[in-house]
Amino acid sequence: MNPLNHVAIIMDGNGRWGLKNKNSRNAGHKAGLLTVEKIIKSSIKQKIKHLTLYAFSTENWRRPKKEINFLFNLLEQFLINRIDDLHKQNIKLKIIGVKDFSLKLNNLLKLAEKKTSKNKLLQINLALNYGSKFELINAFKLLRKNNDKINEKNLIKYFQTKNIPDPDMLIRTGDTKRLSNFLLWQLAYAEIFFEKKLWPDFNEKDYIKLINKFKKLKRNFGNINE
Ligand code: FPP
Repeated sequence: MNPLNHVAIIMDGNGRWGLKNKNSRNAGHKAGLLTVEKIIKSSIKQKIKHLTLYAFSTENWRRPKKEINFLFNLLEQFLINRIDDLHKQNIKLKIIGVKDFSLKLNNLLKLAEKKTSKNKLLQINLALNYGSKFELINAFKLLRKNNDKINEKNLIKYFQTKNIPDPDMLIRTGDTKRLSNFLLWQLAYAEIFFEKKLWPDFNEKDYIKLINKFKKLKRNFGNINE
């Protein structure tokens, strides 16, 4: 049985779910947040230590302003209403990505990170305004600026995921098979699961099913299986 320490998720399909069920993409994002809550709970039960959620990519700025505003409002409300409870549950929140939002949201994010920084049960890494290509280029620029020798150890110290172990498994819901500029370096040896269900329909049972599949896989990290 493989140990499972870190699960990363591309939560795709909110927009399609919303249009199909409520005639509104934003209703899909609202429903998607309920799935986020379920998956956090289940991750704790499964003794997972890191849960990385792709909530907003550097490319998502191309969406209509109305949808972007809705998403950030949802995030603000989530932080305002839920951070005390997450803190009580010993959950640590870490943002990966560039905090380049409204002053209010930037402050809420910083406060949430600070408040929960010593928590140990589960670390939620929320990818917000995150793009893997930007992260890589930025890290190479810092390597050059500091005259560091080019090697893996020196490069990854400049990543936004510094101190976060690489994901063991990646789940992408929404019946789409691509990585969308998400953790391109860090996923080098992750086991990848593409799930047909749209994110708001994804539930604990589906999650456990994928986890059990992962646990039974033979992982050889480039070696050979005897
Ligand atoms: C991708 O679905 C989803 C997003 C861009 C946003 C994810 C946001 C949430 C799950 C809710 C908010 C979360 C937090 C933590 C506050 P899509 O809109 O690209 O779906 P589509 O492929 O059907 O268009």
